[in-house]
Amino acid sequence: MTDVYQQIGHLNDFSDNNMVTYFFNDREILVIKIDNKLYAVDNICSHSEQPLCDGTVIDQEIECPSHGAKFNIESGEPTTGPALLPIDTFKLKLSKNGEILIES
Ligand code: FES
Repeated sequence: MTDVYQQIGHLNDFSDNNMVTYFFNDREILVIKIDNKLYAVDNICSHSEQPLCDGTVIDQEIECPSHGAKFNIESGEPTTGPALLPIDTFKLKLSKNGEILIES
């Protein structure tokens, strides 16, 4: 089976920020850029469904601004409570023109 990718954004969206939220398939996807690498996670925290987009990213982890849970941005696994469940992660590709493509 062939993977299918669709464009959700462009590298130009990251001019002043390392996180951008996109809507894709009725979900909020948070794309995080670190050291020229892109990661995509669900924007909703698994603890109490608060948005992660106002959180802080440090060393491959995003910290939820609501109660401090941290998640690995590659695996989605929680590394610090109170969250116990992972957040979804998504595969991305980058086109030659800087288009950000997400697996659908
Ligand atoms: S909603 Fe994220 S830690 Fe509580």
